[in-house]
Amino acid sequence: MLDKVRDLQQQIEHYTITSPEQLEQFRMRFISRKGVITELFEQLKLVPPADRRAVGLELNALKNAAQTQFEQFSQLMDEQQTMTGTAPPIDLTLPTLPNLTGTQHPLSLVRQRIIQIFERIGFNVADGPEIESDWYNFGALNFPDNHPARDMQDTFFVEKAAYGGTDMLLRTHTSNVQIRLMERQSPPIRSIMPGRVYRNETISARAHCLFHQVEGIYIDRNVGFKDLKDTLYHFVKELFEPGTQIRFRPSYFPFTEPSAEIDISCQICGGKGCNICKHSGWVEIAGSGMVDPQVIANCGIDPEEYTGFAFGMGIERITQLKYVVNDLRLYTENDVRFLRQFEGL
Ligand code: DAH
Repeated sequence: MLDKVRDLQQQIEHYTITSPEQLEQFRMRFISRKGVITELFEQLKLVPPADRRAVGLELNALKNAAQTQFEQFSQLMDEQQTMTGTAPPIDLTLPTLPNLTGTQHPLSLVRQRIIQIFERIGFNVADGPEIESDWYNFGALNFPDNHPARDMQDTFFVEKAAYGGTDMLLRTHTSNVQIRLMERQSPPIRSIMPGRVYRNETISARAHCLFHQVEGIYIDRNVGFKDLKDTLYHFVKELFEPGTQIRFRPSYFPFTEPSAEIDISCQICGGKGCNICKHSGWVEIAGSGMVDPQVIANCGIDPEEYTGFAFGMGIERITQLKYVVNDLRLYTENDVRFLRQFEGL
């Protein structure tokens, strides 16, 4: 058996080929499953157990040598074919494979549009953490411990132990970034803050545990409610259809005083009344208000000298109104029949 192996080793070493046919002959004889090497592997069980290991090793080496030789021969043949022009010609007239590019996600599209509108009137874009401490998400925004206003936002809490005992959570709104901005920057501050937010909601057509908001804040000397109204009127005029009506409705948020919710005339029925606007003709798009002096003071800015307004809106909601998307789950299902409808917008 060993003699046979060694003999084959010699043969492989001294083998030469000059044509693709000979390459194929080499493959049949040494590599293929019907070749001599496979046959020898089958005979291995006939070798006396004491010698089997040694023979097995040699046989493996032979197999590897055959493989290496085959690869070298193949390469040689390829090179030869290219040089002599006998390689199969490339057919340049064949149609190409379809080149499918993705489309921008509707939420990215609307977020970009919102950023664009605010950038043009002097707002810059800021960012903050999604895993946040209780203080930045609630405390600094005037939600006292155990205050019922905390129930407005069903919160996912994070294991305290992982953060050295500090109360941590997934932010329930982008308002945390207001606080971080005011802490690290002195006025004038004029920023918008888009980002992901989380709430402990059961996923349905109307609610999701992950969604997106854009927060806005403007702090400077002599900023008044008029500036808030001007800014948001401008925004609505730029983003929605011409003729869209806007109204401010008194509301409550712990971090603004006075507070207002902003409604626009229903984009679906034009204000006549339909399912989307619950037959009122109006739909809410944002919360807003004058930043509470206590919140400004919490960030180390003098509320006697500086005032400002803030607002927050949901990107899913705005997209729903702009493009009539009636089920929130569509945004995360990645169904191309849905996504393709936003191509080229
Ligand atoms: N954070 C509020 C929410 O998630 C929205 C909001 C309301 C943001 C009023 C603001 C504001 O900045 O002034 O529902």
